[in-house]
Amino acid sequence: MLISAILASRRPPGSLFRFVCAACFVAGLLAARPAAGAGLPPEFTPGELWLDTGGHPINAHGGGLLYQAGVYYWYGEFKTGRTYLPDCNKSWGGTRVDTVGVSCYSSTNLLNWKNEGIVLPAVPGDPQHDLFPGKVLERPKVLYNRTTQQFVMWMHVDTTDYAAARCGVAVSPRPAGPYKYLGSFRPNADAWPEDATAADKTPAAKNCLARDFHSGQMARDLTVFQDDDGQAYLFYSSEENPTMHVTLLTEDYLHATGKYRRIFQGRSMEAPAVFKHAGRYYLIASGCTAWAPNAARSAVADHPLGPWTELGNPCLGADSDKTFHSQSTFVLPIAGRPGAFIFMADRWNQWNLPDSRYLWLPLEFSAAGHPRLSWRDHWPLSALPGS
Ligand code: DGJ
Repeated sequence: MLISAILASRRPPGSLFRFVCAACFVAGLLAARPAAGAGLPPEFTPGELWLDTGGHPINAHGGGLLYQAGVYYWYGEFKTGRTYLPDCNKSWGGTRVDTVGVSCYSSTNLLNWKNEGIVLPAVPGDPQHDLFPGKVLERPKVLYNRTTQQFVMWMHVDTTDYAAARCGVAVSPRPAGPYKYLGSFRPNADAWPEDATAADKTPAAKNCLARDFHSGQMARDLTVFQDDDGQAYLFYSSEENPTMHVTLLTEDYLHATGKYRRIFQGRSMEAPAVFKHAGRYYLIASGCTAWAPNAARSAVADHPLGPWTELGNPCLGADSDKTFHSQSTFVLPIAGRPGAFIFMADRWNQWNLPDSRYLWLPLEFSAAGHPRLSWRDHWPLSALPGS
């Protein structure tokens, strides 16, 4: 019922709509700061309730952004209903709400977001389906594939107890969907990582890489990154979480290629966010403490496949050891403004997950070129370089 109401309210963007969006985007750039509508924020207010243009709290958790034809699209987990703790997750505090689907919002100024509805709905009635409400759907991210002209959504899908650890993929010819779910898999079955040692290939207790060689590697928290040359990469927490993998995607972005490497071995990192600045690749991630915040990690590389060098906690000041009570989800490069990035994070509310908040902060660089994040109660887009 809820899903159909949301779907009914979704307006497919036609060419007139796109023209209006593009005009609004230009007007937004010309204005000193985005205009505030009734109840709409004139600035970013990290951690505060953030209303959409319809006056409802934005509901797009673990999200990611896509910039397409003058419009930003924000995809995320739509969380509603009762937060509960399933028996199977009691040992580690894995609360959840039943899955509704992936939401999408659009904006031309990054402050005022229009609800585009549920673009990938859950599938009630089929307990075997990956998108059954009792299962897990997290961290959706969308890329545009210029060759196939498809919008490709990657997400972490899982069983209630997070044991399945799979990647789900969905596609649409339009950024605001609807998306067609193609299915799920564990990436890189029957392929060894490029950097695998003889020991890595030898079955042994606790050698998850070798254990999962034929079935494909575990994939929980994930993100995708599209390089300037059109090649795209998938980063995913693997091997029961201690080690992350990065893999090249196929040209259509629908599969992992089997070309992959193990990164941050034994460092237990999740919530990866990847971006490129001045020809180098950066990653911000969290440690693994379920919904509880921990100190963020940062890293740099000269190629998405690594090697990656850790740069430490990018956060400065009070609460930097808890990422200001949040967890990374995405880093957004601002279109047309080199060096301007927004760090996006979730401030999870473990016992009331739908009331989890968003924390967007300007991402800066130290003199040594290391990513830096400082708390701001509020800040305007003009605080970023290039305005
Ligand atoms: C931390 C992950 O980053 C989230 O996406 C989610 O899976 C929670 N763990 C569940 O506790």
